[in-house]
Amino acid sequence: MQRRTSIHGEWSSRLIFILAAAGSAVGLGNVWKFPYITGENGGGAFVIVYLACIAAIGIPIMMAEIMLGRRGRQSPINTMRVLAVEEGAHPGWRYLGWLGVVSGFFILSFYSVIAGWALAYVFYSGAGLFAGADAEAVGSLFEELVSSPERLLAWHTIFMVVTTAIVSRGVAGGLERAIRYLMPALLVLLLVLVGYAMTTGHFGEGLAFLFSVDFSALDQDGLLVAMGHAFFTLSLGMGAIMIYGSYLPAGASIGRATLAIAVMDTLVALLAGMAIFPVVFANGLEPGAGPGLIFETLPLAFGAMPLGGLFGTLFFILLSFAALTSAISLIEPAVTWLVENRGQSRVRAATWVGIAIWVLGLGTVFSFNLAAEVKLFDKTFFGILDYLTANIMLPLGGLLIALFAGWRMSRQSSDEELALGPMYNAWLWLIRVVAPIAVVFIFLDAVGLLDRISALF
Ligand code: PHE
Repeated sequence: MQRRTSIHGEWSSRLIFILAAAGSAVGLGNVWKFPYITGENGGGAFVIVYLACIAAIGIPIMMAEIMLGRRGRQSPINTMRVLAVEEGAHPGWRYLGWLGVVSGFFILSFYSVIAGWALAYVFYSGAGLFAGADAEAVGSLFEELVSSPERLLAWHTIFMVVTTAIVSRGVAGGLERAIRYLMPALLVLLLVLVGYAMTTGHFGEGLAFLFSVDFSALDQDGLLVAMGHAFFTLSLGMGAIMIYGSYLPAGASIGRATLAIAVMDTLVALLAGMAIFPVVFANGLEPGAGPGLIFETLPLAFGAMPLGGLFGTLFFILLSFAALTSAISLIEPAVTWLVENRGQSRVRAATWVGIAIWVLGLGTVFSFNLAAEVKLFDKTFFGILDYLTANIMLPLGGLLIALFAGWRMSRQSSDEELALGPMYNAWLWLIRVVAPIAVVFIFLDAVGLLDRISALF
């Protein structure tokens, strides 16, 4: 096959791709979301299912997504369109690209609001507000922030403006330089936090919560949340990794890159958990406190450790950057599509998409204050978007990617693109059978169908 090139540019090396994809994967999902959903779902059993989903579903699907991106070399919508033609598949596969674009809109609309909390905390920490604060003081600081629509709106706006500005300039430029230093720095600060957690006297309790497996603590919904989070945290199922794959130079090994990204991502999440739960237990807090968990616990750690003001400020700066590098990948599929199909300049495309997502974000802003009582299925607007995207849209997108890569694409194409050698058959088996069955099984389980089927016997 004659190789395509991307009109949007290419990464300068495989290492840069790994950093960029890890930048997409490592974000609020690891540091903010993983601890609080682990807390809500009872700990160890949830963590085990999540890790199993990363290994058996996430890794093979990530390889598939990168592979499709590099083969198509366009926005996910156009990539799916040309690959469907090339592989003689139904043209309807391009709607897979659309599903991803819509998922990206939904996710970024709330992601930006939460990233705004991290931005606000940079200044709280800088102003010394954490020093010596107790659980009550830290809790009311958080309460004050989220109950103010004006403040949430201001931070959400700042975050979306910065995201849009960076995407306007193209992904391969400034981003490459930033990620190289920020990611390792975030890792170091997490280690500092884990070091502090060891001094709380409750480190063992925290570890036991994370790693001692008790399946009675995990219900069917928890199983779905664990799988959904595997997709969310690896940025899978919506085209983010596909578009980054489309900038990957030919010949770079997809398998090794995927492993590196998944390991890094998992490491950051587990370190975040190890930093947070000991603090939760040391202060008599609730592991299931919900989305505010890290904002109500980490300030306690920073408030009590030496140089805490400095470390706290640095930490929230790095968390904001981690969120930014994920946000960029959430918006990129839509922007590249507008550039390709509507002939818009990158700046215009990014501006329009940015504005649309900002508007949708208002729903999340108000769901923490003015509209906190407006609920559907017992969930706020934020809760619904989060549930719908992470637990339904991303796994569905991922399932379709697995089916396309495994069953629609010729083995010759995938073998050539992945160049896995003897491991190719293992990948093929995972992508054709294991990953799709696991996703479908967990879906059916969550809607209670498996129970009803087993009741028949
Ligand atoms: N993986 C990112 C995180 O963990 C979120 C994300 C999801 C980014 C989907 C891109 C696509 O924070």
